[in-house]
Amino acid sequence: MTARLFEPLRLGAATLRNRVVMAPMTRRRSPGGVPGDNMVEYYARRAASEVGLIITEGVSIQHEGSAGYANVPDFFGSEALRAWERIARAVHREGGHVAVQLWHVGNARRANPAVGPAPGYGPCEIVQDGKTVVLGMDHAEIAKVQQAYTEAARLARELGFDAVELHGAHGYLLDQFMREETNRREDDYGGDMPSRMRLAVETVLQIRAVVPRDFPLIFRFSQWKSDNYEAKIVDSPQELRDFTGHLVHAGVDCLHPSTRRFWAAAFDGSDKSLAQWTRELSGVPVIAVGSVGLDKAHALTGGKQRDMSQVSANVADLSLLMQKMEEGAFDLVAVGRALMADPQWVIKVKAGRFSEITPLTARAYDELVV
Ligand SMILES: Cc1cc2nc3c(=O)[nH]c(=O)nc-3n(C[C@H](O)[C@H](O)[C@H](O)COP(=O)(O)O)c2cc1C
Repeated sequence: MTARLFEPLRLGAATLRNRVVMAPMTRRRSPGGVPGDNMVEYYARRAASEVGLIITEGVSIQHEGSAGYANVPDFFGSEALRAWERIARAVHREGGHVAVQLWHVGNARRANPAVGPAPGYGPCEIVQDGKTVVLGMDHAEIAKVQQAYTEAARLARELGFDAVELHGAHGYLLDQFMREETNRREDDYGGDMPSRMRLAVETVLQIRAVVPRDFPLIFRFSQWKSDNYEAKIVDSPQELRDFTGHLVHAGVDCLHPSTRRFWAAAFDGSDKSLAQWTRELSGVPVIAVGSVGLDKAHALTGGKQRDMSQVSANVADLSLLMQKMEEGAFDLVAVGRALMADPQWVIKVKAGRFSEITPLTARAYDELVV
């Protein structure tokens, strides 16, 4: 019944052993920005249990405003990079593939000054109680951030990663530029959608110039933000066609539209999901995501849980997922919390051992289940 999930898929130079992707999940367990042995084991265990492609938790790039939360891993500095190299090797040893998710939080940094003294950076200045808490980025700062993304992507390939994912979702830097409500700029980086996408598109072009054409570049975007589940980035299939067209034209090879429920209708007048529309309109492989294998959608902000009593979820059946895969609605499916709770989720699903899957409880958030 789940056979289609276990068909291999070619993504650039990589042949993924199946269609299951581990969704990027911030774990905030890398003191000093350096992932330890526990993180190596955490990722290796999921690869050993047959996840096709692991997308790592969001990592900070080398810009002083990149991190928004304590203990998020860095993707710069020799110690952190050595740890990431070990993670990539460990995943490969288990037959898996791994992409690193590059994350700059933009103006979300103001929410957590405890992370460090550097200010937040975003598309526009933000003043709170007479104090500037977020600097509006000038062109020099934009160039620095793009350079940081590009260097991280180059390093990812050098360290053995199979792909990179740009975090363009959930209300962080690239998303802040792309959305009208957070980007009120009057220069080339603000205005209509192509101008608001300029930061993301130029970044993709710059990354493409330093990695080979067959090194996959995944772009994640979302129809929600951490502080507003209803915030849409595009309002119609036509807008989605233009939006994805700019990214694909620049060199993105795989799109990862983030939704909280993979099956939810994206636009009025059709029951097609965002992943399905994205696949049809963009022509590149698409990763669907949201509540796969669980009976409740995720409700968190920025890696911090709000109400632990609300986080538990029971195991849900996969018949709708399989039906959508059979219809060719999307190519890959990302699984987040279900894989956080049960590292063996894939092999249990493959063997039809559904009753043995560990449901989601607060434990998976509190501890690294390995
Ligand atoms: C603990 C936790 C941390 C997350 N961190 C990230 C992140 O770093 N980057 C990202 O793009 N999404 C992040 N997400 C969202 C997930 O990638 C995924 O889209 C979401 O959990 C829905 O999938 P699920 O229903 O299978 O869990 C996080 C989700 C959780 C539960």
